[in-house]
Amino acid sequence: MTLKDCLRKVQRQKFAIGQFNFSTVEQLRGILDAAERMKTPVILGTSEGESKFLGLKEISALVEISKMKYKVPVFLNLDHSKDLDYIKKAIDFGYSAVHFDGSGLSLEKNVKYAKKVVEYAHKRGVLVEGEIDSIKEKSLTSPDKAERFVEQTKVDSLAIAIGSAHGMFKKAKLDFERLKQIRKKTNAFLVLHGGSGVSDMQIKKAIKLGINKININTELRLAWKRTLAKSLKAQEIKPYKILPKVQKAVQEKVEEKVKVFKNE
Ligand code: G3H
Ligand code: ZN
Repeated sequence: MTLKDCLRKVQRQKFAIGQFNFSTVEQLRGILDAAERMKTPVILGTSEGESKFLGLKEISALVEISKMKYKVPVFLNLDHSKDLDYIKKAIDFGYSAVHFDGSGLSLEKNVKYAKKVVEYAHKRGVLVEGEIDSIKEKSLTSPDKAERFVEQTKVDSLAIAIGSAHGMFKKAKLDFERLKQIRKKTNAFLVLHGGSGVSDMQIKKAIKLGINKININTELRLAWKRTLAKSLKAQEIKPYKILPKVQKAVQEKVEEKVKVFKNE
């Protein structure tokens, strides 16, 4: 099953597929164990920083091996990349999707570069996520602009800013009216970034109104760090005895999220 098939399926069923970011092996395993237990397809995300730490080559090898071990569909997305050459590299290493974040550029340049990414990616069967009106700047996405951007660039998915933000600093309040308008204007898969800290109720409503993919990172990092910090206080020094608890903490957090995405 391709990522496009998966996204179409969750769109029909009014579910959302989760993207969970990682940069270490125990995080990767925690995410995959959760997906397997929940019998759900999963998107593994790596930002530029995360993928530079673990290495694009190592990541794609680890994911390829994992695909043989796990029964659920597993996809890999390069998250928030601004660098066209790096995006091409990720595609060549076998990423299933790339997120070109041109939201810091003028709309004209964003369209220009997004088109280039789409041209390279689509030839190789890779999906492209575009972004306008940065989630980081908190300037909310204009429905008309979203429609034009998708038409002009042919991106498959669109990261939209409707009130969520990266991190967990502030309580998110999603603009559902805006989401409805965007959904009416485009058939692209819609992506909610900054999923950490958004209430379950709001997530469920956003899925009902047309969000197809939800990105979660900070909550996983917090579970990872808290559990690791606690484990390090004990006398144990063997990583293989310390890290399973950390892996489990990530797994539990992902399961918690998937339940919400599946409306369970
Ligand atoms: O691209 C990644 C996500 O938008 C993660 O956001 O760290 O707030 O969960 P988050
Ligand atoms: Zn994001």
